[in-house]
Amino acid sequence: MRPTILAIESSCDETSASVIRNGKVLNNIIASQNVHHKYGGVVPELASRAHQLQVVDVVNEAMQSASVKPGDLDAVAFTRGPGLMGALLVGGSFAKGLAWASDVPLIVVNHMEAHVLAHFIDDPTPPFPFLCLTVSGGHTQLVVVKSHLDMEVIGETQDDAVGEAFDKAAKILGLPYPGGPLIDQYAKTGNPLRYKFPDTDMPNLDFSFSGVKTAFLYFIRDQVVEDPQFVTVHLADICASIQHKLVAMLMDRLVAAARQTGIKSIALAGGVSANTALRREFQKKGAELGWTTFVPDFQYCTDNAAMIAMAAHFKFMHGDFAPADIAPVPNLSMAHQIR
Ligand code: KG4
Ligand code: ZN
Repeated sequence: MRPTILAIESSCDETSASVIRNGKVLNNIIASQNVHHKYGGVVPELASRAHQLQVVDVVNEAMQSASVKPGDLDAVAFTRGPGLMGALLVGGSFAKGLAWASDVPLIVVNHMEAHVLAHFIDDPTPPFPFLCLTVSGGHTQLVVVKSHLDMEVIGETQDDAVGEAFDKAAKILGLPYPGGPLIDQYAKTGNPLRYKFPDTDMPNLDFSFSGVKTAFLYFIRDQVVEDPQFVTVHLADICASIQHKLVAMLMDRLVAAARQTGIKSIALAGGVSANTALRREFQKKGAELGWTTFVPDFQYCTDNAAMIAMAAHFKFMHGDFAPADIAPVPNLSMAHQIR
C-alpha cells in the first residue's frame, strides 16, 4: 500500500493542509492569521473564524499542488488536540466531511506527537529510543520516543509553556504577538549576561516559567519608573538576557533528562525550536556531551500540517483509524495516546 493522505492542522492560529504519499510529504500549505497581532495573543473566537475563511483555499491549494483529487485519497487526517476547541472543530469538521464524501477512513492525530514526528519528514531521522524536548506556545515537554507510536512524557511544565514565556516577555516590552521570534531577532545584538533573572527549583524533570515571567514583569516595571526610556534604549540587552535565561532553563532539564535516561540521541521540536540561541546551545551541549542531535527544518518547527500528515502516515500503516463521529479534545494528553 502506498497511501495518499490529506492532513489538516487547525489547533491554534495556523490553518494548514498537507498531502503525503507513501510517507513522503508532497507539500505544506500554511495560512497564518494576522488578526491576533494587536491583541497580544490568540483570540479563540477570531481564530475559529479565520480557520473557517481559510480552510477551503488551503486544502484546495494542497490538493492541486499535489495533483490529487478527492477520489485519489486513501484517508483524511486532522489534529484532534490539544488546541482551541473552536479552532479544532473547524479542521475536524472539514476533514470529516471530506472523508465521508470521498468514502475513505478518518485518522486523528495528537498535535504534540506530530511535533515529535516532524523528525521523520526529512533525513536524517533519529533512531529509537530518542529523547525529544518539545517546546511550543502551549507545551514544554521532555518525551522519550520509543517508536513512531509509543511516546512517554518524562517531564513537563507545571504552569506556562516556554513559548508563552517568550510571548509574555515580548508583550511586557510592547512587542506584538507572537513575540518569541522578535525577542530572538533583537537578542542578536544584545548582551545575554547584562540582566539576571531567577530560575525556579523544580523536583524531577519538570519546568516552571511563571516565576521568571513575574520577575521579568517587575524588573521592567521598576526600571521604567526610574527611566521611561529604559526599554527603548536597552531592548537588545533585555531580549538577549531573558532569552538566555529561558534557554538555560530548558537546557538544564534536557541535560538532566539525558543523564537520567542514558539516551544520547536528542531532538528538539515545536515552535520555540526555531529559536537561534536554543539551537546554538543545543548543538554546543550536544558536542560537549557526545549527543547525536536532531533539529527539524524551520518550516516543520512551528505549527504545520506536514507533521500531522507524517503522524497520519504511521497511523495508517498500523490501521489506526478513527470512528466517523470522533470529537476534538482541547486538552488531549500525549503519553501512549497514539496507539
Ligand atoms: O509550535 P507552535 O508553532 O505553536 C504551538 O503549538 O503553540 O509554537 C509557537 C510558539 C510561540 O510562542 C512563538 O512565539 C514561539 O513558538 N516561537 C519562538 C520562535 N519562533 C516561534 N520563540 C522564540 N524564538 C523563536 N525564534
Ligand atoms: Zn504546535
